[in-house]
Amino acid sequence: MTTSEMIPKLILNNGHVMPVVGMGTAEFPSIPEKMKSAYLDAIAIGYRHFDTASLYQTEQPLGEAIQEAIKLGLIGSREELFITSKLWCTENHPDLVLPSIQSSLRNLNTDYLDLYLIHLPMSVKPGASEFPIKREDVVPLDLKGVWQAMEECQRLGLTKSIGVSNFNTRKLEELLSFAKIPPAVDQVEMNTSWQQQKLKKYCANKGICITGYSPLGGQGGQKLVGINPVLTSDVLKEIADAKGKTIAQIALRWLVEQGVSMVVKSFNKERLRQNLEIFDWELTEEEREKIGKIPQKNRVSVDFMLAKEGSLNSIDISNIEIIEV
Ligand code: A2P
Repeated sequence: MTTSEMIPKLILNNGHVMPVVGMGTAEFPSIPEKMKSAYLDAIAIGYRHFDTASLYQTEQPLGEAIQEAIKLGLIGSREELFITSKLWCTENHPDLVLPSIQSSLRNLNTDYLDLYLIHLPMSVKPGASEFPIKREDVVPLDLKGVWQAMEECQRLGLTKSIGVSNFNTRKLEELLSFAKIPPAVDQVEMNTSWQQQKLKKYCANKGICITGYSPLGGQGGQKLVGINPVLTSDVLKEIADAKGKTIAQIALRWLVEQGVSMVVKSFNKERLRQNLEIFDWELTEEEREKIGKIPQKNRVSVDFMLAKEGSLNSIDISNIEIIEV
């Protein structure tokens, strides 16, 4: 079996399949040549699922890496890959969804996405500077109108599935109250230090697949505060030492056993390889219990997305809150 064949696949609520582990592509600043070469390495190693977003500015280097991989014979065609991209907040308006997916498709040099996500349950004035978001640029989100436009993208064949990112159960409940096509995926921060048990249960009941981002606690391009609680966890280290695995492998294996998918980021060949060597062994019940008791603290919040200064004009923060205990 090849490495890519060893990666299990989850079946989404519309029958499409998604490899459990994908490569996260974000890095700030994004250096196109470095990105392209890392994505090509990942395809050579066996990654078949890539997670990008218009915000990351990595769609183009990913598109180039895919063309190169086809030329080199690493894959037969684009159909062998699962590609996710996301609608950024400045385009989180009903009339901007179609032009936004079309722009992502052009950047990626492909006819369709496998999955298109609303990046955040937040809408920002069109054309406003991208990141961090100015508080006064946040405007009320027309979720119903945006979702209808997302559904249209799926009907037009521009994406096989649609979903959301950073939605808590309250926001999902609102979405499900009018969705004709329910979201296939909610991509959220999920790791051993932010286990998302409430959201996990809710999504399992509603047939929504969770994709965990920052499965290793997320350093990379994100300027997150504090030390990485996953890679420095004593509990994970003890389990890793006892099993002859790395802390990262224990953290990723835990996610696999939660029945979710994940996008993990590395720009290092050895670590890319290591992060896929998690499918031919398992955690014991006792190890799972120890991990279940790790103190919980999220690292990504809406505050992290917003500029420090300024104030929200017309919107209540609880409308855009992405965390829920
Ligand atoms: P690097 O690119 O140098 O490998 P997350 O996916 O949670 O956002 O975390 C990504 C961070 O974890 C990156 O900084 C990445 O750095 C690092 N990383 C990825 N894989 C491993 C690994 N197997 N061991 C240690 N660090 C890793």
